[in-house]
Order: sequence, then structure tokens, then C-alpha cells
Amino acid sequence: MRGAPAGGAHRLAGRTGWRTPPVGGRRRLADATGPCPAGYGPDPGRWFLVRPWTRAGRAIDRAAKEADTDDDAPLEVLLEAPPVREPARGGLPPGRLAVRHGGPLAIPLHAGRPTVVANFVSTIDGVVAIATGPRGGGSDISGGSVADRFVMAMLRALADVVVVGAGTLRAAPRHEWTPRGVAPAWDSDFATWRAALGLAPQPTTVVVSARGDVPPEHPGLSRPDVPVVIVTTRTGALELARRGIPPGARVEVPSDGPLVAAADLLRLVGTLGAAIALCEGGPHLLATLLRDGTIDELFLTVAPRLLGRSADARRLGLVEGVAWPAREAPGTVLRSIRRDGSHLFLRYAIAAGVRPSPA
Ligand SMILES: NC(=O)c1ccc[n+]([C@@H]2O[C@H](COP(=O)([O-])OP(=O)(O)OC[C@H]3O[C@@H](n4cnc5c(N)ncnc54)[C@H](OP(=O)(O)O)[C@@H]3O)[C@@H](O)[C@H]2O)c1
Repeated sequence: MRGAPAGGAHRLAGRTGWRTPPVGGRRRLADATGPCPAGYGPDPGRWFLVRPWTRAGRAIDRAAKEADTDDDAPLEVLLEAPPVREPARGGLPPGRLAVRHGGPLAIPLHAGRPTVVANFVSTIDGVVAIATGPRGGGSDISGGSVADRFVMAMLRALADVVVVGAGTLRAAPRHEWTPRGVAPAWDSDFATWRAALGLAPQPTTVVVSARGDVPPEHPGLSRPDVPVVIVTTRTGALELARRGIPPGARVEVPSDGPLVAAADLLRLVGTLGAAIALCEGGPHLLATLLRDGTIDELFLTVAPRLLGRSADARRLGLVEGVAWPAREAPGTVLRSIRRDGSHLFLRYAIAAGVRPSPA
């Protein structure tokens, strides 16, 4: 059984012992100190376990009383860092999205380059893919969690572009990288939110490939309302020209190297006018971006599963292809925790200024 019971945040509040706060207040349940990257919150050295409280919190309580299905039940907020400093995109989404998410979602923006956030689901023991081929990825890892798909859709809804490596694309032969691709029942809600934020109807799909092994017939690359850009190398572009590209897709070769460098990818995404890029993997592409200090935040769902590994079943971890010495590993700061049943939804800021080098 998934998640919180129908009946909403007021029932959750009772269950966890939260009490009614003073009007407009924020009840601090616990606090801790720790490093917090620049650009966050009015009190950057502290973070809080809070009831999402405020005027928005009360609106959520009210709306939650009207939500009567499990799929609409709010994610339980276990920890929320102070609101991000402006400028940020997002905030309280409209109507039942806010209820389901258990409050606002905002992503800070950079002045001179796109913000890059990553979203993955992992088992407790760190497996993100059972196999590299089709049917080895997200749903098998998450156990088909509806809440996980909802959180993915929330992030896609805030993004200008969704970036995937060609391995992830090949592993999902029918997928489309839009909010409706993971949460079709919420399509009109996400459309309303995107319109209110002044965003294009759908995020652009950006596929990264070195070899140009991008199936031209992939249905997720030929939706009329979803722009597609394939970022590749010179070799990859030749291969794409040979085997054909999806109708309407654009091919970009940002540099001469054998791989697409993170900086070149970021620059290219910037030329598309994107302020937020959502990287949905896979682990090899994430490694490239982490290694070059490009990822600002990681949204990680921890699914309540243990899948293990062996010599015969290697299975991919969150980051593949780079191994940092322990002292040089990227720094992270926990920003929020949500819960749906035994699934945890973690949000980490990747600490600014950390520029690890590969081992
Ligand atoms: N659990 C999750 O949240 C999650 C998320 C995403 C993916 N997955 C799973 O992960 C598995 C795929 O893993 P993966 O690591 O192979 O995925 P990946 O990183 O998407 O794919 C690797 C491929 O992407 C291209 N690529 C990556 N970095 C590149 C760079 N810097 N420059 C040029 N091309 C680059 C290359 O494509 P070419 O081979 O075409 O050159 C490379 O072979 C699948 O089973 C998928 O379902 C799980």
C-alpha cells in the first residue's frame, strides 16, 4: 500500500504529532546546523524540520480535505529547508498539485547559466538499473511507485529541457520525457502551471550521444509539441545522417571531442534559452556532469528495495564511470525529505565550489 491515507495533511499532522501553529508562524520541530550552499534561504547555516506551515500550508490543509483518493494524498513533508532565495522558478503549484506535493517546489536560478538538477530513483543498496537494456530502469527500481512518477512530473514541469543520455533513451523505447509521460492524469494541472510560469507547453527533450546511436523511430522523439535536440560528436552526427533522425529533431555538435563535455552541453542548453535543465540520467551521463561540477541539485527517490549485485549481475549505481578519492567527492547538503509510505524523496544541493577531479 502506498503513501499517506486519504484525508490529507490534517490527518498527517495528527498522526505525527504536529500541533497547530500560531497564524503565519512556522513551527520548528528540530533544527541542525550544517554547511548550506550560497543562494539558499535567509538563514544559510541552519535548516529545519518543519510543518509546511504558513499561509500556503493552510491552503494545502484546506485543499487536502477535498482530496479523496490515495493518488491525491499528500506526500508527507519530513524536512524542508528555508525557501530558496530569489530568483527561483516555481513556488506553490496550482490546486491539487500543491496538495499532492505537500507544498511548494521552487528551483533557484543562476544569472549566467542554466541551473541543472538531476532526478533518479535508487534502491536502498544504491542500484539504479538492473540491466542497461530495456526494462532495466526506473519502474523496476521504484517498484512502480505512483508517487515517484508524480515527483518526476513535478520536476519536468519546472524544466525547460529534460536531458537524457542515449543509454537511457534506448532503455525506454516508448517513453516521452514530459510531465504527461509519467503522470498523464495530471496533464492539465501541469499545463496550467507551466502556462502560469510562462513556459513552453512541454520541455524540450535533449538526447546526448557520442556514437549517434539514437533510434530515429523512437516515439518519444516525434511528438509534435515536444522539441528534440540531439547533442553529439562529429562521428555521431555522421552516424545519425546515415541512419536518419527523428522528424523535427535538431542535431548539434558543440565541439570536436570524442564525448560531449559538460561545459559544451551546458552552453548549448543555454543557447536554447533554458533556465532549468533536468538531467534524468543515466549514471554515465550523470558522472560526466558531476565530474565537471555542473549539477546543482539531486532529487533522489530511495525505493524500499534491496536488489544486490554479483559478478553475474553487476547492476548500475547512481554514478558510473568516475570514482573520486573520498576526500574529493562532491559535497552535498540535504534540503528536503518527503515520504510516501516507505519511499523517501530526498533533495540534495550539490555544494557550490566543489569541483572534484576523477580518480
Ligand atoms: N533509476 C533511475 O533513476 C535511472 C535513470 C536513468 C537511467 N536509468 C537506467 O540506466 C540504464 C542506462 O544507464 P547508462 O549509464 O548507460 O545511461 P546513459 O548515461 O543515459 O547512457 C550512456 C550513453 O549516453 C551517451 N553519453 C553519456 N554521456 C555522454 C557524453 N558525455 N558524451 C556523449 N555521449 C554520452 C553515450 O551514448 P552512445 O552510446 O550513443 O554514444 C553513452 O553510451 C538504463 O537501464 C536506464 O533505465 C535509471
